[in-house]
Amino acid sequence: MASYIAAIDQGTTSTRCMIFDHSGRVVSVDQLEHQQIMPRAGWVEHDPEEVWTNTRQVCAGALAKADLVLSEIAAVGITNQRETTVVWEKATGRPVYNAIVWQDIRTDAIVEELAALGGGKDRYHEKTGLTLSPYFSGTKIRWILDNVDGVRERAENGELLFGNMDTWVLWNSTGGTEGGLHVTDPTNASRTLLMNLRTLEWDPDICAEIGIPMSMLPEIRSSSEVYGYFRERGVFGGLPIAGILGDQQAATFGQACLAPGEAKNTYGTGNFLLLNTGTEPVISENGLLTTVGYKIGRRETVYCLEGSIAVTGSLVQWLRDNLGIIDTAPEIEQLAASVEDNGDAYFVPAFSGLFAPHWRSDARGAIVGLTRFVDRGHLARAVLEATGFQTREVIEAMNADSGVELKSLKVDGGMVVNDLLMQFQADILGVPVVRPMVNETTALGAAYAAGLAVGFWSSEDDIRANWAKDKQWNPLMPAERREQQFHNWQKAVTKTFDWIE
Ligand code: G3P
Repeated sequence: MASYIAAIDQGTTSTRCMIFDHSGRVVSVDQLEHQQIMPRAGWVEHDPEEVWTNTRQVCAGALAKADLVLSEIAAVGITNQRETTVVWEKATGRPVYNAIVWQDIRTDAIVEELAALGGGKDRYHEKTGLTLSPYFSGTKIRWILDNVDGVRERAENGELLFGNMDTWVLWNSTGGTEGGLHVTDPTNASRTLLMNLRTLEWDPDICAEIGIPMSMLPEIRSSSEVYGYFRERGVFGGLPIAGILGDQQAATFGQACLAPGEAKNTYGTGNFLLLNTGTEPVISENGLLTTVGYKIGRRETVYCLEGSIAVTGSLVQWLRDNLGIIDTAPEIEQLAASVEDNGDAYFVPAFSGLFAPHWRSDARGAIVGLTRFVDRGHLARAVLEATGFQTREVIEAMNADSGVELKSLKVDGGMVVNDLLMQFQADILGVPVVRPMVNETTALGAAYAAGLAVGFWSSEDDIRANWAKDKQWNPLMPAERREQQFHNWQKAVTKTFDWIE
């Protein structure tokens, strides 16, 4: 009897494979980082072949560490960094260009061109739930077709395939050039700017307008069903692949946000706050995105409102790698704790412009409020606080859209081990912040999707039963101070606008 489920989490900085037991406990994990390729300011790429090699290695690694044989694993789920775009040759499996990463803003001019056709940044909002932005896959595919020699013609001849990282991993896992499955799920498809949010089908008008041949696009299936099997000679040879969820939707599922009104915030490279709004999409009037939360088999689609923040954890990495102020990311907490407050310095990390709720690709990062008093400690604190302030901005937008005040916030991701940040988050929001026992909610969500498809878990009640609270932070900051600081932050944000004219 198989007692475990595996999940592949193909993320922005690394690829992991995790194995879970029936109670949702992590049995083993293996992880490999891949190169971040930044050829120019604002450009971010990954090598898809490196990512695929790493994927195979971490699957083998997790299996070996758990000391399991294949027959003990019931199924495999895939979760992934969303929007990141790969175009490859059907006949050889070779990518025609590096993967263009979600943070990459090179397609700003294409976005402006499309917005100028009428409707501005809201041109596709009603149909897709998304604001026109370089963030999403559509303009990234168009850039590859326009800029790599001969590629448009070959795409039109049906020789090329597009996929986000879920599809790239699935196609390779299921045989690649020998019958690999060209499939995605609606959570990933809803981040391309090409899918109709209500029908869950590619929209021919939008594809034609952006200039994308529909033959390149994968088939959209549900988030939880057996799509196919790992190839015999592959590392998970013969195992069913039975779940696909974009990483933020996977975390929402793994956090058991299964009823309307339940929300989670993941603190990763960026921050992504998703609120379950039920089976009807709610179109935001306050700068949020509408996205597919999950679709389990033939059941109704569940939608979410999403506040996406491009730079949070990656700002800590920047402090480490680009300025050398800290040697390791966790050191930031100690440094920030060496001072009482931010010394009146505010750091707005608009490295990829600003995402929700501003959607300003003309913005660039700024540190404001500097005096000679400010030292490394204050900067470290300003870096952490930037995550807290940006989260408050998206929660205000969410409260306004949903008409309901959030009562508490479930959190997960790498940065939630940082007590100082979590306390500040509760302080600046004025609501409790709650961390679950299993913080690996992204991989767990994908495991749940796969496990439900093969009957390993019988219903969402199992997911609810497995969720348990680890720690809670309650707000301690006086309301007046909270509002003053948030006001200063909002002023700081305005200083980043119109930098790129
Ligand atoms: O939309 C981008 C998001 O899916 C990336 O998540 O955790 O890889 O930074 P992460």
